[in-house]
Amino acid sequence: MELSVVILAAGQGTRMKSKLAKVLHKIAGKSMLEHVVNTAESLSITPENIYVVYGFQGEQVKNSLPHLSVTWVEQQEQLGTGHAVLQAMPNIPQDALHKVLILYGDVPLISTETLEDLIQSASKGGLGIITADVDDPAQLGRVVRDHSGNFLRIVEYKDASELERKIEEVNSGIYIIPANYLHQWLPDLSNNNSQKEFYLTDILEMAIDHGVSVATVMPNNNTEVMGVNDRVQLAELERGFQEMATKQLMLQGVTMLDPTRVDIRGDISVKGDVEIDVNVILEGKITLKRGCYIGPNCLIKNAEIAENVRVEANSIIEDAIVGKNCVIGPFARIRPETKLGEKVSIGNFVEVKKSKIANGSKINHLSYIGDTTMGKNVNIGAGTITCNYDGKEKHQTVIEDDVFVGSGTQLVAPVKIGKKATIGAGSTITQNASANKLTLARSKQIEIQDWEKK
Ligand code: UD1
Ligand code: CA
Repeated sequence: MELSVVILAAGQGTRMKSKLAKVLHKIAGKSMLEHVVNTAESLSITPENIYVVYGFQGEQVKNSLPHLSVTWVEQQEQLGTGHAVLQAMPNIPQDALHKVLILYGDVPLISTETLEDLIQSASKGGLGIITADVDDPAQLGRVVRDHSGNFLRIVEYKDASELERKIEEVNSGIYIIPANYLHQWLPDLSNNNSQKEFYLTDILEMAIDHGVSVATVMPNNNTEVMGVNDRVQLAELERGFQEMATKQLMLQGVTMLDPTRVDIRGDISVKGDVEIDVNVILEGKITLKRGCYIGPNCLIKNAEIAENVRVEANSIIEDAIVGKNCVIGPFARIRPETKLGEKVSIGNFVEVKKSKIANGSKINHLSYIGDTTMGKNVNIGAGTITCNYDGKEKHQTVIEDDVFVGSGTQLVAPVKIGKKATIGAGSTITQNASANKLTLARSKQIEIQDWEKK
């Protein structure tokens, strides 16, 4: 069997009250449309093609997602879901073995597993549809069944009778349909209904009329089929996503003191025995090895964190690699392109940028280390600053193994501090300091003899 995916995303999304196209609004840091495309890409049968039907704000959507490998199909006028799918059909083969999976750009949390079930349900040549039993069916299409429970048709809320409106099984709008039937029946749709739209749902009734089976599949979790029309629903789905994402991490061996106060916005790979305290945000691509602890109020973005690292409260780590047994924070900031060796200690109010710090070095209080290569077992005293920027260019600082830098020192780059050197506290170092020597650069202390307090 071959598969094409058609993602409908041409609707206007008026209720978002936004200049941003609806499908570009984000769930867990990723646009809704991208969630749907990524799910389609994750299917065990790789789609031959993923078509995105765009219309309203289409240029904006296309331009902001240039990295997606999809085929963009324009629907110039939004004449209904059936009309939207029709726009993609010229590209799709007329073949009974070619199946078309229809998804929505604003139903972002549909899972790979549920779609696999749907595809499976149509394996005997019929159609498949995802439905859900919901407490509040609102204005969604209702699933009408006969007395023995066989699927008959979908009726839109606006066209439904009072009795039909009482039905709690709703249409998710997600289907799998053999391509030949779409080619055959889509051109015959009529818009003779209360909304004057070409309803894709009518295809299902046509199937039943032609003796073609329609299988129904339900998701594990109704959040999967929820759509987003306004920002209240966007927030609901954000929570739904977070609930699933944190649960998955907990099942992989992460202890969360309160999963409702951890936000996952990316791909997190964990080995067991990681502990995460409250108000933590994990963003991008992150690896957390066994035994890590992430304290309260931390933001970690694109980082590799090795075994037994402690990230203490209120710390930020971004685009960095952290070696085993490091201790970071509280109140530390590790900026991009930083690589910490093992057992490095970065204390409170310390900022490290684009620097390599080797095993066992300590920068424990109130320092800025930028564009620096630091050797092993270096001790940086409180309030030490690398002056890496001369107003025009950035310069490098090199600090070799076993150096001791006294508190309140400025290292004016480019500068090199030799192995085992000691720098006296309060020095402004503008020239290289030799290995094994004590270097001082501070004015002499004087006492004013005839001074009197007023
Ligand atoms: C549709 C279903 C309804 C189902 C509901 C689930 C039809 C006729 N009805 O409702 O049974 O319960 O979805 O959400 O299909 N779109 C286009 N072009 C169009 C119209 C819509 O691309 O011309 C896109 C929208 O951007 C949206 C999706 O199709 O992503 C669904 O449209 P929407 O208007 O939200 O759903 P309904 O048609 O009301
Ligand atoms: Ca509609």
